[in-house]
Amino acid sequence: MKIAVLAGDGIGPEIVAQAVKVLRALASDGLKIELEEAPFGGAGFDRYGDPLPESTLKLAKAADAVLCGAVGGPKYDGLPRLQRPEQGILRIRKELGLFANLRPAVLYPELVGASSLKPEVVSGLDIMIVRELTGDIYFGEPRGRRDNARGEREGYDTMLYSEPEIRRIAEIGFGAARKRNKKLCSVDKENVLETSRFWREIVNDVARKYPEVALSHMYVDNAAMQLVRDPKQFDVVVTGNMFGDILSDEASMLTGSIGMLPSASLDERGKGLYEPIHGSAPDIAGQNIANPLATILSSAMMLRYTFNKDEWAYRIEAAVKKVLADGCRTADIYETGTRRLDTVAMGDAVLAAL
Ligand code: IPM
Ligand code: MG
Repeated sequence: MKIAVLAGDGIGPEIVAQAVKVLRALASDGLKIELEEAPFGGAGFDRYGDPLPESTLKLAKAADAVLCGAVGGPKYDGLPRLQRPEQGILRIRKELGLFANLRPAVLYPELVGASSLKPEVVSGLDIMIVRELTGDIYFGEPRGRRDNARGEREGYDTMLYSEPEIRRIAEIGFGAARKRNKKLCSVDKENVLETSRFWREIVNDVARKYPEVALSHMYVDNAAMQLVRDPKQFDVVVTGNMFGDILSDEASMLTGSIGMLPSASLDERGKGLYEPIHGSAPDIAGQNIANPLATILSSAMMLRYTFNKDEWAYRIEAAVKKVLADGCRTADIYETGTRRLDTVAMGDAVLAAL
């Protein structure tokens, strides 16, 4: 099993190094994997003038799975859109056909105090956000700048979903719900957007194949509110690219820290890219204080979803649970009475717990 490792920018290299350490430990224990690194994002731009260099894309295509850190930083903020590091992650998602983004938001009991919400509201929280990842206003054409009829400059993007795009992500949503608590909430803005009316129609049609799953629909503004009012009402949430981007950041804070949330982005056949949902955090880059757990947990998702190695995934997840139970914390989840570890020490703790 070949894994392309794209560490990226900011804290990316620091957190990815910890996940690599964990994967290598499993390799020496018999897991048959091969890792190969390549420059990506700002690092790709620095090296080849391209956030997704040809050679990196080639490696990612040839690999069975991709492990990513994060991309972006203030150094690149002034670049034209197509050269920005974010373009690297958007293009690799598109090039590899990674339309299904799974973002589980799970609250570990030890972190209940680190959540921004009251313990009774979040304890036991376990939501799966299924975000469509290669369509919507992120990729819709036309987009750009123009002069309007009044001679004023304007910027515009296109929100757009085709029927097959909605069908295949709805299938993933229903499939996930069927394996969990059989509740699926589809989030849209049907009261305003034509795209959303169409989305809802297709989701309702797919629902006929899944009578055992209870489907509900919710407007995105209400969903944003319900997530902080009563998040435990949700089991699986399925939504478009833009709404999913926003709601998954929001959901992450319920779990104590955005530094805890892994993600999987899958194609039709289960090949995947795995990355923490957080960004490159340039403000703390190079300080060895970032939380590597989201990336380590992303590598567990890789073993489960792409390699079908549930037992190995479980070992990583159990090790993470153990270090949290032992009181190990990085700065973002630190509370009095726990032990504050730096990035490398947290990686070492997970290794020891393995
Ligand atoms: C995410 C990120 C990306 C996105 C950025 C970096 C382009 O916010 O993975 O959620 O908007 O999809
Ligand atoms: Mg985001």
